[in-house]
Amino acid sequence: MPAKINLALRVGRPRDDGYHPLATVYQAVSLFDEVVASPLDGVIDCDVSGEGADLTGPPQDNLAVRAATLLRARFGTRRLGAQLSIRKQIPVAGGMAGGSADAAGALLACSVLWDLDTGPDDLAAVAADVGSDVPFVLMGGSAVGTGRGERLLPALSRGTFHWVLVMADAGLSTPAVFHRFDDLDLGRTGLLEPPTDVMDALAAADPAALGAALSNDLQEAAFSLAPHLKRTLQAGMDAGALGGVVSGSGPTVALLAANESSAVDLSVRLSSAGVGRLVRRVAGPVPGARLIST
Ligand code: C5P
Repeated sequence: MPAKINLALRVGRPRDDGYHPLATVYQAVSLFDEVVASPLDGVIDCDVSGEGADLTGPPQDNLAVRAATLLRARFGTRRLGAQLSIRKQIPVAGGMAGGSADAAGALLACSVLWDLDTGPDDLAAVAADVGSDVPFVLMGGSAVGTGRGERLLPALSRGTFHWVLVMADAGLSTPAVFHRFDDLDLGRTGLLEPPTDVMDALAAADPAALGAALSNDLQEAAFSLAPHLKRTLQAGMDAGALGGVVSGSGPTVALLAANESSAVDLSVRLSSAGVGRLVRRVAGPVPGARLIST
């Protein structure tokens, strides 16, 4: 399952249920977590390896376990169980929907393991109840998200965009960033719509236009909790990025390059400048959750 970047993220004031209304443009990028589901009698458990595995909480709090449990409650029986082995590349608490990717993978893997009578719409409905970003990670590609992020419409996107991701030393909690956003009173009022400049740049396969159009309403709140991110973004621009943005609630910073070789140059410059904890090159859009083997 891929990670996501929010190319644009417009955020309103909190709703009565505490969630924030959004208008966002998502792009799935080539950084993948893998979930292997093996049979287990009546118990749903998980083990995690790879990037940031030590930072994930206990199995009962894992979004993949929660997703599988909800899927079983809706479409299965209590006898069903699974051991979910999660191999992570997507940073934990990085603003790239890593937990959501694992949840999407668990839904797909368990629906096959348990031979459930579920179609894509059923999985998408469970996904929306598990988390705001889970439906997008299941779908992949490029999409406009509204509601709390779970209502999707595919967006027309041509070509491939090349990114350099700078991952930070410590994660940021999504609720904490939304709280800071509220404390700073940054919520938009009125109708939220995704910016047309981002949509036009995607349709035109124009990285320069996309770089100029990247935006994130949560960025100020993320800067306020992690001031060093401002320097990371500036370092990326100084090293030749066409544009940059904090991904979702952060702290991963996504920097856009003109093409693959510019992305190589950019990542080498940032790595040698010692910016962030880890620098990775990815491309997007890529497909959503996929079954690799049964
Ligand atoms: O939907 P999900 O469980 O991934 O959201 C995690 C947290 O992020 C929520 O509990 C909420 O604090 C915040 N959030 C929000 N508005 C959204 C999405 C997430 O306030 N649209």
